[in-house]
Amino acid sequence: MPTPVHPQEVPAHRSQQPSTQAEQASTDADGVAAIEVQGLKVGYGEQVVQRDLDFAVRRGSVFVIMGGSGCGKSTVMRALVGLAPPMAGCVRHRGQSLWDAEPSARETMLQRIGVMYQNGALWSSMTLAENVALPIEQFTDLGAREIRELAQLKLALVGLAGFEDHYPAEISGGMNKRAGVARAMALDPDVMFLDEPSAGLDPVSSRRLDELLLALRDALGMTLVVISHELASIFAIADDSVFLDAQTHTMLTTGDPRELREHGGDARVRYFLTRGEGG
Ligand SMILES: Nc1ncnc2c1ncn2[C@@H]1O[C@H](COP(=O)(O)OP(=O)(O)O)[C@@H](O)[C@H]1O
Ligand SMILES: [Mg+2]
Repeated sequence: MPTPVHPQEVPAHRSQQPSTQAEQASTDADGVAAIEVQGLKVGYGEQVVQRDLDFAVRRGSVFVIMGGSGCGKSTVMRALVGLAPPMAGCVRHRGQSLWDAEPSARETMLQRIGVMYQNGALWSSMTLAENVALPIEQFTDLGAREIRELAQLKLALVGLAGFEDHYPAEISGGMNKRAGVARAMALDPDVMFLDEPSAGLDPVSSRRLDELLLALRDALGMTLVVISHELASIFAIADDSVFLDAQTHTMLTTGDPRELREHGGDARVRYFLTRGEGG
C-alpha cells in the first residue's frame, strides 16, 4: 500500500524538532500557529460559559482542552470548528480569522478541519467504508471507485483494513472510535478535533486510540485538538493544553500538562492533574 501522506500534510518544521520543551514556541517556524484564540467568549443566550480565553495550538502538535464536566470544553470547540459563533473574541486558523471571513472563505477553511464529536456515533445502517465515504461524496467530485479507494485508505490508516464492509454493530467500541477517526480524516484535514474520543472505552482500547492519535501526529504531521478529562490519556498524548475552570468561567492556565502537574502555579489545576477529579 502506498504511504498515504499528502505533501501539504507534512510541515517542513517536523524535520527539525526542538530538542527541549523550552525551545518550543507557541507558533511555528513561519510564526503562524495552527490555531490562535484571543479574547474568546462563548456561551448560550445570556449565559457566558467561558470568557477571556487566549491560547495557541502549534502545528503538528497534540493540544488538549481539559477541565471538569460542564466547564465548557465542547462549547469552546464549537467556536473553534465553525459551528457556533463566539460572543466575542477571535479564532484564527493559520492566521486567518474564522468568524470574520466571508461565508465562502469560511467554508473553504472548514474543509481543512476534521471533527469527531462527543458521542458522535457512526451511521449504524452504513458500513464502515460507507461512513467514511460520506463526507468525500458530499465535498468532492470524485467518482465512486476513487471514493471507495480513499475510504479504504483511511480505514487502513486507523488499523481497520479488511473491515470496510462491516457494520458498526459488528465491531468493538474501540474499532468504532477508530472508524470515527477515519471518517474525521476523510477530507485530509490539517487539523482534527476530537471531543472525548476515549469516553466509554476500556483502558486497553483507550490506550490504543491514544497511540493512533500520536501516530497520526508523527506520521502525517497532523495537528490534533483533543478534549479530554482522562488523566492517563492527557499525559500520554498532550504536547500542550489549556485548563478551563467551571467556577470562574475562564482558563486557569495553559502548558504541557506534565509540567503543570509538577510545577504548575495554580493549585486547582494541580489538584485536577493529580487526582483526576471532574469529568
Ligand atoms: N445547547 C445548549 N444550550 C444551553 N446551554 C448549554 C448547551 N450546551 C451546553 N450548555 C451548558 O453550557 C455549559 C458547558 O457545557 P459543555 O460545553 O457541554 O461542557 P463540557 O463539554 O466541558 O462538559 C454547561 O453548563 C451546559 O449545561
Ligand atoms: Mg463536552
